[in-house]
Amino acid sequence: MMQRTIPVRLKRVVNRSYAVRVEVGIVDSLPEFFRRNWGRRRIFIITDTNVGRLYGRRLLRALSLSGLDASMLDFPAGEESKNAAVVFALHSQLLGLGIRRDSCIVALGGGVVGDVAGFVAATVLRGISFIQVPTTLLAQVDSSVGGKVGIDHPKGKNLIGAFHQPVAVFVDPAVLKTLPVTEFKNGLAEMVKIAAAVDKRLFGRIERRAGVIRRGNERLLGSLLVRAIELKAAVVEKDEFDAGLRAVLNFGHTLAHAIEASSGYSIKHGAAVAMGMASEARIAMRMGLLRESDFKRLLLVMRALGLPVKFPRITSRPKFLFALSADKKASGNRLKFTLLKGIGHAVVGVEVPTPFILELLNGSR
Ligand code: NAD
Ligand code: GLY
Repeated sequence: MMQRTIPVRLKRVVNRSYAVRVEVGIVDSLPEFFRRNWGRRRIFIITDTNVGRLYGRRLLRALSLSGLDASMLDFPAGEESKNAAVVFALHSQLLGLGIRRDSCIVALGGGVVGDVAGFVAATVLRGISFIQVPTTLLAQVDSSVGGKVGIDHPKGKNLIGAFHQPVAVFVDPAVLKTLPVTEFKNGLAEMVKIAAAVDKRLFGRIERRAGVIRRGNERLLGSLLVRAIELKAAVVEKDEFDAGLRAVLNFGHTLAHAIEASSGYSIKHGAAVAMGMASEARIAMRMGLLRESDFKRLLLVMRALGLPVKFPRITSRPKFLFALSADKKASGNRLKFTLLKGIGHAVVGVEVPTPFILELLNGSR
């Protein structure tokens, strides 16, 4: 039998850099951005029912008045929509509307919209461009930057997805005015996470001004937001595909994903991250990795911001353990956590012995 080796040479250098623009009122400059960069190509805003009502219709009108060819699609707000049925319905609507490879999707909303619309953009017609316009603090501070898009699966959270970077991110702090307080706190949790994981100076700033931040001081929030995005961008630049360093951003998340999934997503992501950070920091302290004084500092800041620090009551242990083991950070039979070694210093890939998890569960009854 003849033998041949046929190379398929695919090495290429593509510049996929993009800018995250942070500015009050920047949503209103989107028509101008599209006129300059998108010309006659079609724009599809994907949003959820809440954000569609608050900002989507206005944006659609502004784009249309500028002579741009724009349409808007929405789906019910909430984590329950992060599923394959919603993605498929969006695919069908987009194909029905004649989406083409040179069209652009605008993800207008919180982290759920960003993840779902980004995944739709990554998959429809094998991938088209998309823009992130995050409207929750959580999405502005974290999920809109970095290109992780995807949906949940009955086996666990965020298990189906892709890396698909946006072509631009527009962060408008003005839209946070309509955000419910609980959602604002969910965003603060991710801000504390990045500070605790990689930047003790940012953590110190949050610590000193926690009361003011909690009241939503716009100027201060704006500058913290910018710093948090810079930190996230720096991590993503070094490890876009989550091969190592990027796991620092998972501090609090291994437990958080299991808390969320086993609660049937009645506990929101940000709240679960707060609970996860407090519990994972306690584990780090019990394992002798984190000093008690640093553990207490973390808890004090979180309490001052009004974040939940107690491990929740787990109604179904099997569900929790199943979700924990399905977490993509589980490798082989062992669970790997991102734990704090100090404030501003997270370490990745730490094996946590099962008794520490059982201790949490026993305490939660
Ligand atoms: P969300 O998208 O569900 O938004 C929370 C609620 O706020 C929704 O009801 C939404 O309609 C509403 N809302 C959004 N903007 C508003 C505004 N300006 N005013 C009033 N209401 C508004 O939740 P979230 O907390 O933004 O995102 C959580 C999701 O993000 C989770 O699914 C999580 O897994 C994901 N996430 C992804 C990444 C990533 O890197 N891709 C990172 C962190 C979190
Ligand atoms: N939010 C985690 C990440 O972007 O990697």
